[in-house]
Amino acid sequence: MSILVTGGAGYIGSHTVVELLNINEDVIIIDNFSNSKPDVLECIRKITGKDFKFYEIDYLDKKSLEKVFEENENIESVINFAGYKAVGESVQKPIEYYMNNISGALVLLDTMKKYGVKKFVFSSSATVYGEPERIPLTEDCKTGGTTNPYGTTKLYIEQILKDLYKSDNTWDIAILRYFNPVGAHESGLIGEEPQGIPNNLMPYVARVAAGTLKELSVFGNDYNTSDGTGVRDYIHVVDLAKGHIKALEKLNREKQGLFIYNLGTGVGYSVLDMVKAFEKSTGRKVPYKIAPRRDGDIATCYSNPKKAKEELGWEAVKNLEDMCKDSWKFIENKRNLTQEPEKIQEHNVERGT
Ligand code: WQD
Repeated sequence: MSILVTGGAGYIGSHTVVELLNINEDVIIIDNFSNSKPDVLECIRKITGKDFKFYEIDYLDKKSLEKVFEENENIESVINFAGYKAVGESVQKPIEYYMNNISGALVLLDTMKKYGVKKFVFSSSATVYGEPERIPLTEDCKTGGTTNPYGTTKLYIEQILKDLYKSDNTWDIAILRYFNPVGAHESGLIGEEPQGIPNNLMPYVARVAAGTLKELSVFGNDYNTSDGTGVRDYIHVVDLAKGHIKALEKLNREKQGLFIYNLGTGVGYSVLDMVKAFEKSTGRKVPYKIAPRRDGDIATCYSNPKKAKEELGWEAVKNLEDMCKDSWKFIENKRNLTQEPEKIQEHNVERGT
């Protein structure tokens, strides 16, 4: 049986594909490289020594998506990573975000229904909690009050999935609410490569450490937190990827249902904690200045991951040092690659179209 991974060349998608291949799952990736690079596919093959099918398509393109299902009758489940995910950009481009994230999910679900594929893992986000009702956040906390279109697309897709399950309880759905994914695979071959200037803290810190960005702007130090800077639940992307394996195993056990899990560490770190940890772990300096608060930011957000531990048998095991060291190794590796004439040869991937 195969697992279809949309956005499988992206940051979290590629790390999850590595974990799926490591347990000998049969994987099909679709990606349109809108926020990823073709050479990631070769890196996945290098890391795992395994192969997979790849289709360069936009999941909004129903004809192409149907072709994938026509050509792969053994698709048993789908993990949906495809979607735009930059909070700031979503405020500037709401139509693009609603069109891509929500219409894309609807086209995908409608196509799955047509081909009788009803096992679905959705990449959601802690952003759906809006201003946290309480900290640490549990899955029964109220959702809503999202402060940007990116977060609202996640909230709406969760609602679509709840309505879908209510209409047909033979669906088998896991909604995974990510906290703050950071880090990279220990090989240094895959990691977070945002287009342009990073929105998120860790990739920005790593690029300041590398000297490609001058200094970090710390968005506010007057929050009601230990040192006044924002507190978040940073989780290593490999721990997050493994959470998807456990969620698929749960769906395979349950055969039907709708399940929601926080994927976080349950520990909150401030911006200055992260800067100090990065400097300590890598020996690099991270110059910073205090800047005004960023619109839409909340003071504190971290999870209670108890439900995932009890029901999935999953918990995050990598620590802050792992997150910082692996982030830095990826940046160093990329820097070395760009300074060398040869690049990773783009593999003649099998294109479904
Ligand atoms: C973390 C902290 C900032 C950058 C968002 C989405 C979430 C997920 C991760 C996709 C905050 C501070 C940041 C900088 C800073 N999205 N910061 N200077 O906003 O918690 O979460 O990204 O996977 O769904 O909501 O993450 O990394 O942007 O910010 O001081 O240059 O770092 O104020 O306190 P965020 P972030």
